Amino acid sequence: SPIYEPNNIPHPNGTYQHLPHTIIIGVRKGGTRALLEMLSLHSDIAVAESEIHFFDWENQYEKGLPWYLNQMPFAYSHQLTVEKTPAYFTSFQVPERIYNMNSTIKILLILRDPIERVLSDYTQIYYNHLQKNKTYPPVDSLLLQNGKLNTDYKAINRSLYYTYMENWLRYFPLQNIHIVDGDYLIKDPFPEIQKVERFLSLSPQINASNFYFNKTKGFYCLRDSGRERCLHESKGRAHPHISSFLLEKLHDYFYEPNKKFFELVGRTFDWL
Ligand code: A3P
Repeated sequence: SPIYEPNNIPHPNGTYQHLPHTIIIGVRKGGTRALLEMLSLHSDIAVAESEIHFFDWENQYEKGLPWYLNQMPFAYSHQLTVEKTPAYFTSFQVPERIYNMNSTIKILLILRDPIERVLSDYTQIYYNHLQKNKTYPPVDSLLLQNGKLNTDYKAINRSLYYTYMENWLRYFPLQNIHIVDGDYLIKDPFPEIQKVERFLSLSPQINASNFYFNKTKGFYCLRDSGRERCLHESKGRAHPHISSFLLEKLHDYFYEPNKKFFELVGRTFDWL
């Protein structure tokens, strides 16, 4: 196995830390937390709860694989370890670095309508400012400048999926990258999770009764051996209303990039 697992000291209960068998690489605001939480319903999955930022942050990457391994959860030998860091997808140096660790690793990518993703990303930045008692401009004034779409805005750039995907495909074959449809994961999570189980060659264990729609939250929540839980309140926030003028600009802007992405991955999504 190409996986380097130094000083693999077993925990008294017989568990070990393993380098990840699969990584959720993004996209930021695609539904990465929901995907991780839903996957962790499976008894053969062990997840790293926090975002590690090993491959994208220089000061972490410098610490090397022993440090990375140490961030992993203790897991039984039959379990697959999963890490998620949504910033990986859009960081150009990351694919090569993951390839150098494990060239046959299975990659999970959850994507969502690029325009929805922009608004979700904007909302995230807005709340980050609010938390620090700072203000953040209204969405229209950031996304529009002199009646034109401000294509320099970073949240817009992060929705140009094909530009990043091209870079990943230089290192990994398409069949090792499973794309989860984030819009479907919101509307009807069970079928999307079943596809992930199959991609990871897991036994079909997660079932429809693990999910229930919570009207108050407006999203599906999880039921795990009788215990019910929804995602944190920062997941599933209302997005700002945008003018039809701006919406049209966004549609025009993403039309070609979306098409390029569909060609690249040989499948389409309901984004246009
Ligand atoms: P919004 O808060 O903009 O709606 P990430 O975890 O990658 O940051 O993604 C956050 C997004 O996950 C949320 O964006 C939400 O739409 C989506 N999501 C998908 N399934 C969800 C669920 N069951 N509960 C809450 N949010 C969910």
